Amino acid sequence: MRVSSTECLGNALNYSAFKPYLRMDIEQRPVAEKHFLNTTVHKISWSGLTVAIKDRRTGQTRNILDNVEGLVNSGDCCAVMGPSGCGKTTLLNALARRPINATVDGRVCINSTQLPDAAFRHVTSFVEDHDTFIGSLTVRETLQFASKLAGITHESQARIDTLLKSFGLVDQASALVEKGISKGQKRRLAVAERLVTGPKILFLDEPTSGLDSVPVFTLSATYATLQSATISSLSLLLLSAGKTQYFGARSAVIDYCEGIGVTIPQRVNPADFLLELVNIDFSQDITAASQRIADLQSLWQASNNAQLLCESILATDRSSEGLSIQADDKPGIGGQLMTLLQRSFLKAYRDIMAYTFRLVMYMGLAILMGTLWLQLDRNQDSIQLLINALLVSCGFMAFMAVTYVPAFIEDH
Ligand SMILES: Nc1ncnc2c1ncn2[C@@H]1O[C@H](COP(=O)(O)OP(=O)(O)OP(=O)(O)O)[C@@H](O)[C@H]1O
Ligand SMILES: [Mg+2]
Repeated sequence: MRVSSTECLGNALNYSAFKPYLRMDIEQRPVAEKHFLNTTVHKISWSGLTVAIKDRRTGQTRNILDNVEGLVNSGDCCAVMGPSGCGKTTLLNALARRPINATVDGRVCINSTQLPDAAFRHVTSFVEDHDTFIGSLTVRETLQFASKLAGITHESQARIDTLLKSFGLVDQASALVEKGISKGQKRRLAVAERLVTGPKILFLDEPTSGLDSVPVFTLSATYATLQSATISSLSLLLLSAGKTQYFGARSAVIDYCEGIGVTIPQRVNPADFLLELVNIDFSQDITAASQRIADLQSLWQASNNAQLLCESILATDRSSEGLSIQADDKPGIGGQLMTLLQRSFLKAYRDIMAYTFRLVMYMGLAILMGTLWLQLDRNQDSIQLLINALLVSCGFMAFMAVTYVPAFIEDH
């Protein structure tokens, strides 16, 4: 099951080129490791999802996501599409229960259960829209440390090998992330890194920005392959100004548009057309454009598709389908600390020049302070000078420690 954001629809609409791949017999596909199989999560649904923020200027509460609902079944891929600033990332963050500086209301259920945070995090993973790699690690080490920090001890090498193979990164396994792999390979690594723990639901924010449609689709197809599944359907959530304009099968969007009196011209990419339709940012007449968006939203709310979606979500919520989770043993603070230290030493070792320079600088400072200290007399007259020397050395050390902040943010 995949829930992905933006850019995906354009590719999804062109996915007929990849149908042979989708139809490929599972037996012919690469061997899927059992860690990646999904036999527990059957659906994720969300209803009444509203995210409100306090406007800094006016102090008023403003909904940046308003009563959004959806339902994604196991094996489905849902693309969230909409103009920039319409709330795609906010929706994914709210669905994935990531901390956001806003009030979140609504229900998000896996199967029919609102899971506690720990269980929810166990079955989901989130790929951010920007890379958060440590550049001086190799591709394999990146996956190894992700696996160690997640507490995976059992068959972790097998998982990593499967991921490297599935994401076409075997030849780059020993390459440094910063210098040895391309932008597209980095995005693939970002997804592979999140799959180490074998999540059943993957949220991808701009998973493929800057990539062409083949890698875009390959990412989804690879994930399906790992789960020994095919992408059974591609659904689409069209958002505008935080509100739903359409939710349903990708293949049904053209019929839906015709049903509400919007004709998609021939020889025009439907994705581009829809994006333009719900985008008011560059309109000459903002009032008319806003009215058009409001009308489209009312038409959606009154449509059969919206009713059916509502009923499906209600039926899902009413079913008593639970979820059993076998949690991996998470490493304790000590274990995590050791892994992070190991990672830092490796980083320092790879960046030996910078760290040697730092070491020499600190030693120079120590010698300087030491000689100053030795020159001071041990009598009352020197107390003020001793205090000054202590203050200067403490201040200097604190100042130098601040230089580690960027590295801390990178590690974090
Ligand atoms: N914590 C926040 N505080 C204030 N405003 C926010 C906050 N988070 C998001 N917003 C606003 O909410 C709206 C939706 O933002 P979001 O990042 O979800 O858009 P997006 O659809 O992902 O855009 P893009 O395609 O450019 O990534 C924007 O207008 C943004 O300014
Ligand atoms: Mg975004």
